[in-house]
Amino acid sequence: MKKYIAPSLLSADFANLQKDIEMVNNSDADWFHIDVMDGVFVPNISFGMPVIKAINKHAKKTMDVHLMIVDPDRYIKQFKEVGADILTVHYETCPHLHRTVQAIRAEGMKVGISLNPHTPVSVLEDILADIDLVLIMSVNPGFGGQSFIETTYKKVRQLDAMRKEFNPELIIEVDGGVTDQNIEKLGEAGANAFVAGSFVFNSENPSETIKKLKQLA
Ligand code: DX5
Ligand code: ZN
Repeated sequence: MKKYIAPSLLSADFANLQKDIEMVNNSDADWFHIDVMDGVFVPNISFGMPVIKAINKHAKKTMDVHLMIVDPDRYIKQFKEVGADILTVHYETCPHLHRTVQAIRAEGMKVGISLNPHTPVSVLEDILADIDLVLIMSVNPGFGGQSFIETTYKKVRQLDAMRKEFNPELIIEVDGGVTDQNIEKLGEAGANAFVAGSFVFNSENPSETIKKLKQLA
C-alpha cells in the first residue's frame, strides 16, 4: 500500500511561507496538509482562502485540505477554486454528510471525512464506500504541538478491518502528535497517510525529518 507523508503548514513560518513550501516541494513529502480553522468548531483561527490560494501558487504537490469549520457546505466550490485536491470535512460538522460528500465529489476533488478522538469509526460504515480517505484525529483539533492520544491505534485497526470489507482503496490518515516514535506502529496498525506539523517544522533539518518519517512509515 502506498504511504503518504503530509507536512502540516500550520507549523510553518507564516512570515516566510514560500521558503517552507519550497522545502516541502524538494523533500520526500507527498502532500501539503492545510488546516483551516474557524474559531467556532475549534477554539483557534488559522487562515482562509487568500492564503490557500497563495500556497497553491508555489505548491507542486497534492493539496490536502482539512476543514475544521462549521457548515463546510457553504465553501466547497471556493476550496476547489483556491486549489484543494483533497477536501476533508469533520463528521461532527455535517448533519447531511452523504450530501456533503456528493457535493465535494461533484467539484472533482477527492473526499475525506475526519473523526474527532471521541467519535468511533463505526459511524462511517454506511459511507465508507463513497469516500477516498478517513482522517483520524489523534489529538483534539485546533492546535499543533499537542501530544498523541494512544487510543488512536485501536481506531486505526478497527478502520483497517472495515476498509477490507467496504473499500480496499481507502486511505487512512492520522493527524496530531505524529513523530518518529509512533509512525511505525501507526503504519503497522493500517494507517497509510501521516500528517506531521511541529515534529517536522520545529526540527533542525525539516527535509531530513520528512525523509526519516517516510522511511519509518
Ligand atoms: C490540528 C491539525 C493538525 C496539526 C498537527 O488540529 O489538524 O494538522 O497541524 O500538528 P502536530 O503534528 O504538531 O500535532
Ligand atoms: Zn490537520
